[in-house]
Amino acid sequence: MDKSSTSLDPSDWAEMRALGHRMMDDMIDHLAGLRDGPVWRQMPEDVRAGFQASLPAGGRDLRAVYEEFGRSIQPYVTGNLHPRFMGWVHGGGNPVSMLAELLAGAMNANCGGRDHVGIAVERQVVAWAAEMVGLPAGTGGVLLTGSSMANFCAVLCAKYQALGDAGRREGVQGHRLVGYASASVHRCVPGAMDMAGFGLEALRRIPVDADYRMRIGALKEAIRRDREAGFTPFLVVGTAGGVDTGAVDDLSAIAEIAAAETIWFHADAAFGALACLAPRLRGMLAGIERADSVAFDFHKWAQVTYDAGCLLVRDADLQLATFGQATGYLAAAARGLAGGQPWPCDLGPDLSRGFRALKIWMTISAYGADALGAIVEKTCALAAHLVRLVDESDQLELAAPAPLNIVCFRVKGFSDEQMAALVADLQEEGLFAPSTTMIGGRLAIRAAIVNHRTALPDITALVDAILAKVRPGGSAPWPQAKG
Ligand SMILES: Cc1ncc(COP(=O)(O)O)c(C=O)c1O
Repeated sequence: MDKSSTSLDPSDWAEMRALGHRMMDDMIDHLAGLRDGPVWRQMPEDVRAGFQASLPAGGRDLRAVYEEFGRSIQPYVTGNLHPRFMGWVHGGGNPVSMLAELLAGAMNANCGGRDHVGIAVERQVVAWAAEMVGLPAGTGGVLLTGSSMANFCAVLCAKYQALGDAGRREGVQGHRLVGYASASVHRCVPGAMDMAGFGLEALRRIPVDADYRMRIGALKEAIRRDREAGFTPFLVVGTAGGVDTGAVDDLSAIAEIAAAETIWFHADAAFGALACLAPRLRGMLAGIERADSVAFDFHKWAQVTYDAGCLLVRDADLQLATFGQATGYLAAAARGLAGGQPWPCDLGPDLSRGFRALKIWMTISAYGADALGAIVEKTCALAAHLVRLVDESDQLELAAPAPLNIVCFRVKGFSDEQMAALVADLQEEGLFAPSTTMIGGRLAIRAAIVNHRTALPDITALVDAILAKVRPGGSAPWPQAKG
């Protein structure tokens, strides 16, 4: 064969088309039949071992490869599409987004830059996001993998505000910059301080109140003490939807302090930002519209398929100054494909990046913002139902207030180990997938109700399943709970 004429395209497009149609049918069946299957299946050892093979020199028939997908991959994924998946803070995805992934794959656009429609769609999505949280027109932003990256990039913007170009040239050097966040801030915020070169200790963890919200008085006091000791406060992070309990910091009060102290105010609203679309919840996030930057994900409460994180920066010029770099091979041009600056590669760390914006644009276009807001309200109503069931039960108790969609509770009298075993049993039996977290130094069962498919009977069934396991004579292999 003349190797110069080989490409990766098939010699028989009809065969590829037929297989592609089969894949599409199978995946639509997969979504339509989610309720019929277990939430999660443990991957057997032989399947795990199958993914430790050496590099294949030759290819196989695509039909065989797809059969292996059906046999060894599809059954063993996380399970977050399932209505009874309530672990961590995972979105359920949606069929429109799934189809958009196919379209994006077919376009294979590199959205790092250049003058093409992928960049225009991303700018549209960023503008919609700014409108959602109440930031002004002209707000900058960029799509990223998730809120971990968006929080990191926000820290870099705050650093730019504090140190300007000198900070980019010389690094943090001897500047004693310190930031503030609640004690229950997500791990990625201290991680961002670490990665940005400030060090973990440069993030002051402010104590929380009984509702797991940052104590505003303690924040003021920490800033005062730091200034007295010669530190320079440069960043305060307000959490809008805490990962453990869904707590929302008093963003208005934080905005006031940040303005008075000339400190960058960043909101980590990884999932909470979507509550801005829910009329009954929007008030809880009052003050987010005053943030200098907001990090959030479309892949959580907005149900877009992974991954789809977003950073918003009020001062678009500052975002460009934080990340922009001039190089000959990416030089701006007045016309042609190299026009259309600023490019996303100058608004964040990634140069090559896929067409994430398409699945977000298609999801919002197809369902509308009101439907997404209604899902947020529904999942919070389901959480309130779970709280009621826990309160009504003699055997369960709440571990923390549940202001949004996350409910942390315990089985009375159970040890941490017993509770962890109970959750693992529910997962391994494929019945439900709650997760666990530590509240006040003790383990709690954590139901994060994010999935648009979850319905009231799923919540009732979760409580029934737990009670069936823990009641005397129930299926639990552990010592029975007292009381
Ligand atoms: C409050 C909060 N911040 C940040 C993150 C990190 O987001 P991601 O997983 O998209 O990186 C999460 C994840 O759940 C979160 O709940």
